[in-house]
Amino acid sequence: MHVGNGGRSRRLGVGFIGAGSVARTVHLPVLAKLDDLFEVRHVMDVLPEAAQTVASRVGARATLSQDELLADSTVDVVAICSPDQFHAAQVVAACRAGKKAVLCEKPFTLTSAEAAEIAAVSAETGVPILVGAMHTMDPGWLAAERLWHDLPETAHTLRSTIILPPNTRFIEFATETSRQAGMPGIDYDDPQVVAALLQMGVLGLAIHDLPLVRRFLPDFDDLTVLHAELVRPFGYEFVMRAAGRTIELTGAMHEGWKPDWTFEAIGPDAALTVRFTPSFVQGGSAVAEYACGGQRTVSGPYAANGYEDEWRLLAAIVAGAADPPPVDPRIDDIRFAVAIAMAGRDHLLGVTA
Ligand SMILES: NC(=O)c1ccc[n+]([C@@H]2O[C@H](COP(=O)([O-])OP(=O)(O)OC[C@H]3O[C@@H](n4cnc5c(N)ncnc54)[C@H](O)[C@@H]3O)[C@@H](O)[C@H]2O)c1
Repeated sequence: MHVGNGGRSRRLGVGFIGAGSVARTVHLPVLAKLDDLFEVRHVMDVLPEAAQTVASRVGARATLSQDELLADSTVDVVAICSPDQFHAAQVVAACRAGKKAVLCEKPFTLTSAEAAEIAAVSAETGVPILVGAMHTMDPGWLAAERLWHDLPETAHTLRSTIILPPNTRFIEFATETSRQAGMPGIDYDDPQVVAALLQMGVLGLAIHDLPLVRRFLPDFDDLTVLHAELVRPFGYEFVMRAAGRTIELTGAMHEGWKPDWTFEAIGPDAALTVRFTPSFVQGGSAVAEYACGGQRTVSGPYAANGYEDEWRLLAAIVAGAADPPPVDPRIDDIRFAVAIAMAGRDHLLGVTA
């Protein structure tokens, strides 16, 4: 997608709420590349050092106050990169502040009630909201859409696999070292803890690709969990049925497993495989492969990835060159994720409906 820049002075001012890993290692490098479209002007974090570090890298103002950032008229677009539990209230505040657009990192919200509140505020204020579900904007995924013919109607199996190298912060949390430092370790013998970790896996990791699963599964009211299990030290295995399809979700942060980030849709006559790059890696797009009747079509990789194209789309929306994506499907994604998380929890704890 090409968006005319109209000169540097017409660049969109970006304000970051939350200046941690994702802001630093994903969004700042992308915005540096798209500096004809965007300029980071204000950075807010609850930690002065975080706000200052990020702001000084890009010559922006630093603040500890969300209200101050939202009142800054040079900020056109707000990027919400804070921890999950703050997203909903911050999206609402940014919409009410009359910003031109909001980019909210995944997960959009943590509950269906929050999602409904956002839908109402979005409709009322008309502020476009983009959820940082980067794979839905990955050129490899968009190429898959052009390849897959009637697979959304015929697929019987949908499979999402996300195997990542261990996350240092999580591993530290779980180790003896953290216990010595006075932090609680993880009690894998406590069913409530295991259930909570499973829910975290769905809303923190699986959520990345649940919007892709939902393209093949618009209706999930009859969702049933056949198997749900925590993968140690952190991950999940789910086998589910909904709308006559089998849905398999595997996610793990595990040093012994080969990294893999793949989505598959399999039907009686055709199969789609989309292989994504690891998150945080700005190494081009996914590769889509569609096999049907002995023919194999491969599309990708493309130079851009979903992180880059979500910002390009945002610029195009603000410029009036692209329609804002409807918020409702993203809200249904949250309903889907919450339904899986709750059903998985009940399955583990032996709760019957
Ligand atoms: N799209 C992706 O690939 C991807 C990858 C990782 C994380 N994420 C999402 O991005 C978000 C941030 O993740 P991260 O890895 O950068 O976490 P992080 O912990 O590294 O950074 C979060 C930052 O937010 C700050 N913060 C805490 N409370 C805040 C508040 N109330 N208001 C503003 N800032 C606050 C923290 O001080 C910290 O600097 C999470 O929601 C996460 O799910 C997305």
